[in-house]
Amino acid sequence: MPSDTAPRPVILTGDRTTGPLHLGHYVGSLRNRVALQATHAQYLLLADTQAMTDNAHDPERVRRNVLEVALDYLAVGIDPALSTICVQSALPALAELTLLYLNFVTVARLERNPTIKEEIQARGFGRDIPAGFLCYPVAQAADITAFKATLVPVGEDQAPLIEQTNELVRRLNRQAGRDLLPEAAALIPAIGRLPGVDGRGKMSKSRGNAVPLSASDAAIEAAVQRMYTDPDHLRASDPGRVEGNVVFTYLDAFDPDLQAVADLKAHYRRGGLGDMVLKRRLTGLLQATVTPIRERRAELARDPDLVMDILRTGSAKGRTLTEQTKREVTEGLGLFSL
Ligand code: TRP
Repeated sequence: MPSDTAPRPVILTGDRTTGPLHLGHYVGSLRNRVALQATHAQYLLLADTQAMTDNAHDPERVRRNVLEVALDYLAVGIDPALSTICVQSALPALAELTLLYLNFVTVARLERNPTIKEEIQARGFGRDIPAGFLCYPVAQAADITAFKATLVPVGEDQAPLIEQTNELVRRLNRQAGRDLLPEAAALIPAIGRLPGVDGRGKMSKSRGNAVPLSASDAAIEAAVQRMYTDPDHLRASDPGRVEGNVVFTYLDAFDPDLQAVADLKAHYRRGGLGDMVLKRRLTGLLQATVTPIRERRAELARDPDLVMDILRTGSAKGRTLTEQTKREVTEGLGLFSL
């Protein structure tokens, strides 16, 4: 156990509760979080309020997935004794800070955020952008600052949100005349985004190219079978391309034997190595990763009261902390505070 005398750096991260998590989340962040919880004060937010910003038509989906994502966290090895899991909607100070922070950002700045621009496009909102959606980067800044997080492990696509958070922090600190809140750094995984099994864009449930953390051995095998390789690699004896070959991308992400992967790449490029050999290796690796997660998840799912208790305890802790920060911010800005 690390010593508790020195304050640990604070991590805040979260996930929208719109669906169970998949291997893309595992590679992109869950794996990191399990490692970081030993050395950091880590807070995980089940972002149901943020999920509502593009799911107002389906609150039931948002509610149901709070428990699903919590199960995913616990199943991959997030330890509630080391990490604090909070439900966003159970922390009213986050909403209060959001409302306050909205006055420190312009509509034009919100519309310029590249992540939001892309997401608006992808969702086909056209001119009917929910106001909550346009403003969610401000809510996310509230999430990050309320916990006084200095590290935010996120995917590459979220970097502009951290930038916007820090802009807000600087404005608030300038207004307060002192360092009320710390700036945060994005922690972006080196491996980058895991592509979907079809090789078209990132892994995502809505694109139907995802492998859920509860996938059966047969489902994993089927997913790897249809995985995109090199379309010009028709015979095993042909030289094959490694770049853009999804099977190799996955081996890079999951195979602990780096030397073996390097050798396989060289062999594939030379020719004489069939896709099936690679796919069998990958299937085994993915099954070995997912099986314990799936089993632990099923076990936890049989005891929803235990999971609810973990969420209640975590949220109570988060409530105290975020309430305290909200007080410091209102007082720091010189607002009336009863
Ligand atoms: N935007 C994140 C996602 O899409 C979820 C999230 C909410 C988050 N609040 C956060 C991430 C704070 C990092 C920090 O999944």
